[in-house]
Amino acid sequence: MEPTAAFPQPRTCPYRPPFGYAELTEQAPLHRVELHDGKLGWLVTRHTEARALLSDSRLSADRTNPNFPLISARGAAVRSQPPAFIGMDEPEHGHYRRMTIPDFTAKRINGLRPRIEEIATQAADQLNAAGSPADLVVNYAVPIPSLVICEILGVPYSDHEFFEDASRRLMRAADEHEVAAPRAELLAYLDSLIDTALQRPMPGLIGRLAGDQLTRGELSRELLIGIALLLLVAGHETTASMITLGTVILLEHPDRLAELRADRGVAPDLVEELLRYASVADTAGARVATADIDIAGQRIRAGEGVLIPNGPANFDPALFPDPDEFDIRRGSRNHNAFGYGVHQCLGQNLARLELQIALPLLFERFPTLRLETPASQLRPARADTIQSIDELIVAW
Ligand code: HEM
Repeated sequence: MEPTAAFPQPRTCPYRPPFGYAELTEQAPLHRVELHDGKLGWLVTRHTEARALLSDSRLSADRTNPNFPLISARGAAVRSQPPAFIGMDEPEHGHYRRMTIPDFTAKRINGLRPRIEEIATQAADQLNAAGSPADLVVNYAVPIPSLVICEILGVPYSDHEFFEDASRRLMRAADEHEVAAPRAELLAYLDSLIDTALQRPMPGLIGRLAGDQLTRGELSRELLIGIALLLLVAGHETTASMITLGTVILLEHPDRLAELRADRGVAPDLVEELLRYASVADTAGARVATADIDIAGQRIRAGEGVLIPNGPANFDPALFPDPDEFDIRRGSRNHNAFGYGVHQCLGQNLARLELQIALPLLFERFPTLRLETPASQLRPARADTIQSIDELIVAW
């Protein structure tokens, strides 16, 4: 069957999924697409089919499968990434994911609230000390999730400049070649951290897994490094982007911002709608079919790639009427911003809490906050990674 749509769709706005999705969602739930390497695959553009497929065990997340769909030249690098459960299927996926779950339960994350508030207050002080105008990304949006994930993992925050920079280069690399250096630096760093954890007790998740599962032979060193890398990068990049883009969206919607200012209690609903509206990890859901799957009148054949981006599902008018409206009262919790099914985001409780703290605090501390560059002139950093802006100059 000939391709009927292009993927990725061109991205023009950094805080909205590609506008081309709307027409595709209206036309059909599944589209035939040609990927950058010429391979054909499927693009899923409606919420019902997206959820059905994301919870279908005949779709595999195994990136080492030669048919795993790659959406860009950079994507090829995922094949040689150290293994982590994000790229595994059951039962291995669940087995290794469960080792990390104690650190991310709702109860454990809620217990971090006072510490996250303290960290956000320090970041607001840092932004204030930088003086107006200043970059929100380096002074506020990155430090909060970065320090929090460091404390959870047991990574010394004194090394933050190194790993934030290496993570940024890893996520922004244009191709496999550019990925190699930052990845090697991060892997060597985590490897030496594991050495330290094996010599003396180290607080945090890495120390716990090294002292228990690694020592008992239940987890290989390569896999521990892969899991630590996944958590370190996923734990700060996406949330940092959501703080930055959430700030832009709120400044673009002064009525909604006024509601937040009047009542901090709207923060949870507001954050859900922001997650839907920005869909930062839009291109996260890539899978390969391991068996024929009949869905919505189409047959996905075994070996075909399936792309299930979050953007079109989060703007599907069947579930979210007037999807372009930023409406904090619509009840957005059914969005797919954290994915769906077994691979649904492990850090979602944490990300939600960080956003519920960071955004209200920012506007409380800086009541006259404004953008130095108009929102309409902001451009997305890259098409195939998470939605982000690398620099956001704000004044107050
Ligand atoms: C607003 C912030 C975040 C967004 C939008 C987001 C989004 C996502 C999405 C869409 C997936 C599913 C990928 C797939 O199905 O292939 C995912 C998985 C994952 N996320 Fe997040 N994430 C965020 C924050 C975090 C944080 C703070 C952590 C910290 C630990 C984290 C860790 C993970 C992990 C480990 C997975 C893989 C889960 C698995 O395969 O079982 N994420 N995330």
